[in-house]
Amino acid sequence: MKRIPNISTESGRYFLTDRIREEVDFRGTLQSRGVRPPPIQKPVSLDSTIIRLPDPESWAVPQCELQSAIANRESHRRFTADSLSLDELAFLLWSTQGVREELHEAAVLRTVPSAGCRHPFETYLAINRVEGIESGIYRYLPLDHSIVLERDINNLPAYLTAATHGQSFAGQAAVTFIWTVIPTRTEWRYAEASYKVIALDAGHVCQNLYLACEAIGAGTCAIAAYNQTLADDLLGVDGVDEFVIYMAPVGKVSKIR
Ligand SMILES: Cc1cc2nc3c(=O)[nH]c(=O)nc-3n(C[C@H](O)[C@H](O)[C@H](O)COP(=O)(O)O)c2cc1C
Repeated sequence: MKRIPNISTESGRYFLTDRIREEVDFRGTLQSRGVRPPPIQKPVSLDSTIIRLPDPESWAVPQCELQSAIANRESHRRFTADSLSLDELAFLLWSTQGVREELHEAAVLRTVPSAGCRHPFETYLAINRVEGIESGIYRYLPLDHSIVLERDINNLPAYLTAATHGQSFAGQAAVTFIWTVIPTRTEWRYAEASYKVIALDAGHVCQNLYLACEAIGAGTCAIAAYNQTLADDLLGVDGVDEFVIYMAPVGKVSKIR
């Protein structure tokens, strides 16, 4: 087996344990040293195109029994040509990263849990078919329940397919959720003990997307197999202080299974 620098079976398994908590000197973390926390949400420039999303009270989205959503959840890799409505997109974003309560500048409670309430993710959207929204790369602003246009992309479906090692269903989706991580948000509190909990945090986000999709007749499929460089370049993130960690294409699914 080819050896990958810095990773061995031993170090990989160590990562999955919680032994690191016994090793890290938490008195040396940025938080313990009184450094201000990184922003909860990446800032936007003043000339950005920002689209306010509909609030939960006005959504025309079907209600769904939780038990049935859990029982029927499955990975979908075939989508119809239908678009998502803006209400449906707002519902999916709220389900995955929506803010429940703002506690103070360092912490907001969301619809998903996060170790130490650090919420290290940004949610980008590669939009192909959402009613009333031009195709392009957008980013969710959880504090404002809005999306901001990040960039226009030519031939988005082909790029998404290439960025996911040829998984063409990513290009065929109505919208692909692409989560990046900003590690310093978690490192500020947990230093080297951050990495396992960041990975755990990501799972909660994607599972909520699966369940929310069930409610609106849509489907998704987690994607962890992607080309890191192409994915980071698609979003315009630097690959060091912010990089792609997970993806999930979403589209309407045929009722005939
Ligand atoms: C962390 C993770 C990464 C995954 N990555 C991919 C992927 O890159 N491509 C894909 O087609 N499915 C991917 N899947 C979906 C799994 O293949 C799928 O969950 C599994 O086959 C079980 O099917 P089910 O989700 O319908 O129960 C991933 C799932 C998880 C949880």
